[in-house]
Order: sequence, then C-alpha cells, then structure tokens
Amino acid sequence: MSLENKQILLGVTGGIAAYKTAELTRLLTRAGASVRVVMTRGAQAFVTPLTFQALSGEPVRTELLDPKHEAAMGHIELARWADLILVAPATASFIERLATGRADDLLSTLCLASASPIMLAPAMNQQMWQQQATQDNVQILLKRDIKIIGPAEGDQACGDVGPGRMLEPQKILQLAEQHFHTGALAGKRIMITAGPTREPIDPVRFLSNRSSGKMGYALAQAAVEAGATVTLITGPVNLTTPRSVKRINVETAEAMRAAVFETIDRSDIFIATAAVSDYRPVTAAEQKIKKSAEHLTLELLPNPDILAEVAALEKPPFTVGFAAETESLEKHAQAKLQRKKLNMIAANPVNDNQGFDQDENQLAVFWSDGEQRFPLTTKYKLARQLISLIAEQYHST
Ligand code: C5P
Repeated sequence: MSLENKQILLGVTGGIAAYKTAELTRLLTRAGASVRVVMTRGAQAFVTPLTFQALSGEPVRTELLDPKHEAAMGHIELARWADLILVAPATASFIERLATGRADDLLSTLCLASASPIMLAPAMNQQMWQQQATQDNVQILLKRDIKIIGPAEGDQACGDVGPGRMLEPQKILQLAEQHFHTGALAGKRIMITAGPTREPIDPVRFLSNRSSGKMGYALAQAAVEAGATVTLITGPVNLTTPRSVKRINVETAEAMRAAVFETIDRSDIFIATAAVSDYRPVTAAEQKIKKSAEHLTLELLPNPDILAEVAALEKPPFTVGFAAETESLEKHAQAKLQRKKLNMIAANPVNDNQGFDQDENQLAVFWSDGEQRFPLTTKYKLARQLISLIAEQYHST
C-alpha cells in the first residue's frame, strides 16, 4: 500500500505522545503523502514546529489569525486541501472541542471547515480516557463518522497502566493507508483508456489534441486502491504508470481499439477517458510531405468510436464515458449518455484554463436516473470520488 498523491493534514495536540508524531510524519511522507502539520499551543510545549517543518518539508501552521500564512494558503483553503485530517495525538481537551464544534484555534476551525474525513488517535492518561465525560464526547464523534483509532493499553508516561497510549506510528500509518484502500471494487477487472491518440500525417507529423492523460491515470490509481485489477490503454503521455497497473501503450485510435477489444470481454467496467481523435488522415504519406503547394488538403476519415462499440457489445461491461465540452455541458452529456447507450457519463467543462492538461477539474456525472456534481478539486481527489460513485452504481445495477 502507499499514500502517493494523498494530501494529509496532520494535527498535533498537546500530549507527550507528540514526540512520536515526528516519526509518524516521516512514515507518512515516505509512503508518498504530502503532509501539512498544524500544531495547537499545547503541542508546542512538547515538540517545536521546526521539527515538523524539517520532517514534512512544509511550513507548520500554529495560529488561526496569522496574516503571513493566510496570504499563502488561507485556513479554508487548507481545510479543502486535505484528503484526510489526522490528529495524533488527540487529547481529551481536543476531543471535547471537536465534540462541541468549537472554532477557537486553528486545528478545531479546520476540522469544522472541512468536509474531509477526520481520524483521531487519542492519547491521554487512562483515567481521563475512561472518564464518562470523555467517553460521551467520543460517542458524539463516532456518530458523526469521525474515526477513532486506539488508544492502546499499556504503560503510560505518567506511570499508570491502562488504555490511553497513542497507537504506534507504524500502526497509524497502516490505518491511514487502509482508509484510502477502500476495497469498493475488490476483485473487479477495470479497463481504462487515457491520453490523446496520434493520427499520422507523414513520418514526422500527426493529428492530436491537448489531452494530458492525467484524469485517466488518476482513475487507474484510484481503481487499484479500490481493489480492482486495472488495465490502462494509453496514448502517448508524459506520466508514470501507477503502481500495480497493467499499461498498454498505443498511438492511433485504431491501435487503441484493437488493444481494447483484445480483453474487453474479461472486463467488468470500462472507463473511456481517452481523447480519441475523431478523424484520421486517409493515408499517412510514406515520406515527409514537402512544402511545395500553396494549399495542402488533408483528407480525413472518421475513426471508430471505441466507447460506443464497447457499449454495443452483446454483454457489455459497465461503461463510463467522458464528455469534455466547451458549452451546454449537461445537454451534450445527457445526449451522449443516450446515444452511446452508456451506464454513466462524466462531463467536464474545457476552456483556456480548465480541463485538458490541468491538475484540477470539476465533473458533472449523469446516469439514467441520477446525477452528481463534484466541484473543482485535484484530479486525484476527483478520481477517488468518481471511482466510489462508479462502484456504488455498478453494485446497484
Ligand atoms: O463523442 P465524444 O468524442 O465527445 O465522446 C467522448 C467519449 O467517447 C469519451 O469517453 C471518449 O473516450 C470516447 N470516445 C471513444 N472513441 C472515439 C471518440 C470518443 O472511445 N473515437
């Protein structure tokens, strides 16, 4: 497992276990996560912000109303940035602040301002943990789907023995990884097309488009994390293959079609993110075309619509198409859903600074009797949201 492309907001509150969070920061970053640390005032009595700055490679935030930091990344932005908010150690006092919805320091404000999942690793004296007041607060948090991991039992820094020790960093890492590895598509085979195609004009020139492949690659990674076996059929892009993904490189639409049909009958789900060239030159010149005539006419032929062909199979997989549109997003997407007989379509606006070759995007997803909108965020986060929606719809059909 890994935490590649995951953004973790690591909250540190004031307990002696905070020294172990230094090791946790190392483990999280080594597993590939981007970590941003927020410390409460209490935490700084045990460990300095500089420790976490050195380990996370990012400035540490400690104050809610800090003009310098707010100018770089405001607290609302930081709350949205997080894929996961992990608080370790979480003291009894912090648990109480969260349960009562306070926003009187940066960390509690971030928790309140974020729609991201929250995971707490409590650490405190065993009597404080077992106290009814703490247990009542824990129950409130559990009801709100906040994950409480630990505490473990054993020797405590104060000399007591009992429940209240923070889980070991290695164990917290493992639980953070498990959080992203949902298993929602365990045992399923998913085929994804990604990137542009290249349609040769002559040995040195081709017709292509601006697709970067980023969305398809992010989906491949999210599908692996959901437990699927993933085949990625990709046009030429400048991206590394996500771990555990079988990658097949192609150039033309026809080569992409051939690669798709080789194993489509063994796929449970087909996601077409590739920006397949709609047309190709009738013939590719054998030699480089010389600059001679004033006008040069290229004759083009339509390419096969791979997605429509897959959806038209006798026993089609669950098919998901993409629709990049510059106008009338919903109307065009709905029309494509019907015309190509898809199970689902994910539409995204493309314009000068959105869509192709960007790291962020937004999606409007439609299926026969529903729709869901995912606001602008990283393609990695969007991919996880879309994969979880696909899993939900796949299992309900
Ligand atoms: O009709 P349009 O090209 O907008 O449809 C986009 C969807 O169809 C995308 O999912 C794309 O991957 C897929 N497609 C395809 N083969 C084509 C053209 C588009 O699979 N020749």
